[in-house]
Amino acid sequence: MDDDDFTHVVKGIRYPPYVTKDNLEAMANFRLRADDIVIVAFPKAGTNWMLEIVNKILSACGRTDASSDDMVGKLEFSYPHEPRPRHVMLQTCASPRVILTHLTPHTAPPGISQPKDNVKVLVVMRNPKDTAVSYFHFEQKRRAYFERKPIPSWDEFFQLFLAGKHTFGCYFDHVLGWWQRRDDPHFLFLKYEDMKKDLPNAVRSVATFLKVKLDDASIEAIAHACTFSNMKAALDKSRYDDRTFNARKGLVGDWKTIFTDEQSKSLDLKCKTKLEGAGLILDFE
Ligand code: PPS
Repeated sequence: MDDDDFTHVVKGIRYPPYVTKDNLEAMANFRLRADDIVIVAFPKAGTNWMLEIVNKILSACGRTDASSDDMVGKLEFSYPHEPRPRHVMLQTCASPRVILTHLTPHTAPPGISQPKDNVKVLVVMRNPKDTAVSYFHFEQKRRAYFERKPIPSWDEFFQLFLAGKHTFGCYFDHVLGWWQRRDDPHFLFLKYEDMKKDLPNAVRSVATFLKVKLDDASIEAIAHACTFSNMKAALDKSRYDDRTFNARKGLVGDWKTIFTDEQSKSLDLKCKTKLEGAGLILDFE
């Protein structure tokens, strides 16, 4: 740790305390199983939403018990309430494993960035403005709840986010890194905004990608259960966990409530510069 907010930097990227240097080093040797399903997303881009969809799809075809909490958590984390780092605990989890990560292709296990066999990688992307706002609110809660440290102002947070100096590094490097893999059939890319617009269609794409045949009624039922309000209501009834903490507003365009015009223009410019020629269009409305 090298800062008073408990974060630390490894190879130029800042991480929260529960992503230890040891865990990051262990990623190089983490072995994927042939039927692993991996969900990749920058923090606050919709990781847990996709997890819920995948779990419900697997449950509908009898491949796993979706009521189990075993799979919740990020590959690179060490959770304070767990005896071992998540990457160690995953070694004894039943298949098919659903693995979540916020890492980049360079820091994630090679089995995720260059998948083989039947490994499936779902990448969720959310526009950087809503991602930043969601992350800011999460940080406020996290610091107040766990660390009781001073809470950064929105402007301080925004400047860190824009400069890629916040935890998990530069949003743009993350999405662009994974976007390079878009032609690889092991990968499926979904945008948070498209999921909001047409959730049944997103569920259908994920099921097809996972080679699970579902009829229209099952697709509709999964989409219905995975709307923000239904997921939040279900989580509110369950015990406190990582996901309850994150179910805040679930909106597209919430950034307009907090961004100044100047901040919006700075981020637009950064988007333009970073994404130029990449063929990746992000949806802000
Ligand atoms: S984490 O902790 O980094 O893994 O967070 P992550 O799950 O990636 O993202 C949290 C945001 O996703 C929103 N969310 C949803 N949006 C729409 N529909 C559903 N069902 C849903 N479930 C989670 C969650 O509310 C966080 O966004 P904000 O904008 O803060 O509400």
